[in-house]
Amino acid sequence: MSDATYDRDYWEDRYSGHGGHGRGGLEASPHLIAEIARLEPGSALDAGCGTGTDTLWLAGQGWRVTAVDIAQNALETARARVQEIGAPVAERVHWQREDLTTWEPPAGGYTLVHSHYVHTDAPRPDLYRRLATAVAPGGTLLVVGHHPDGLHGDAAHAGHHGTQLTAQEVADLLDPGEWTVETADARVRTATVGDGREITLHDAVLRARRKTAR
Ligand SMILES: C[S@@+](CC[C@H](N)C(=O)[O-])C[C@H]1O[C@@H](n2cnc3c(N)ncnc32)[C@H](O)[C@@H]1O
Repeated sequence: MSDATYDRDYWEDRYSGHGGHGRGGLEASPHLIAEIARLEPGSALDAGCGTGTDTLWLAGQGWRVTAVDIAQNALETARARVQEIGAPVAERVHWQREDLTTWEPPAGGYTLVHSHYVHTDAPRPDLYRRLATAVAPGGTLLVVGHHPDGLHGDAAHAGHHGTQLTAQEVADLLDPGEWTVETADARVRTATVGDGREITLHDAVLRARRKTAR
């Protein structure tokens, strides 16, 4: 296993100078597109937004997005991308530098909370419980992670215990009296990475809806 520490320095370094990390391209997550396509746009939190690929897609669909990341370098790249796109998409995004291991998002503040491939140094149950509190009644939590069945093609992360996740692991954190789990899947897909290689990705996908008060 890797001894990688996913602290701020690690992520700032990953995003410094060389075009960054994460899905820095223009393709939004197919899981995001598929899982929220039928939702009415509202307020979204993109937790660990990286260079903003999913944020920009959401804003383009009409969502008002708070995009949070620990890495200033990532947010600067993301801000430049959104400036290129201009209004009205740019006006729908609020970029915020926060450490998700300690940040308390506004309780019930978002109709969608989305977290895609986010690995922090914090215990994951704490992180996902905190993100779940930010979902408004009737709103949706969408978590996508690297499923343990596969390595995801990035040698820096492969094999590190902090990067791998099952949907069930997140579902188990949610009180069934308060949540309906709508998707808890392991999915395999292919993607083309920066150097043109095609890689196979094993993803864990969890979508849950917070029940409205009776
Ligand atoms: C693998 S990248 C994924 C980025 C983006 N969600 C995507 O799918 O392309 C993980 C992201 O999580 C962010 N991150 C890691 N730890 C964090 C923390 N403690 N607080 C906020 N963001 C964090 C990193 O800076 C990085 O942008």
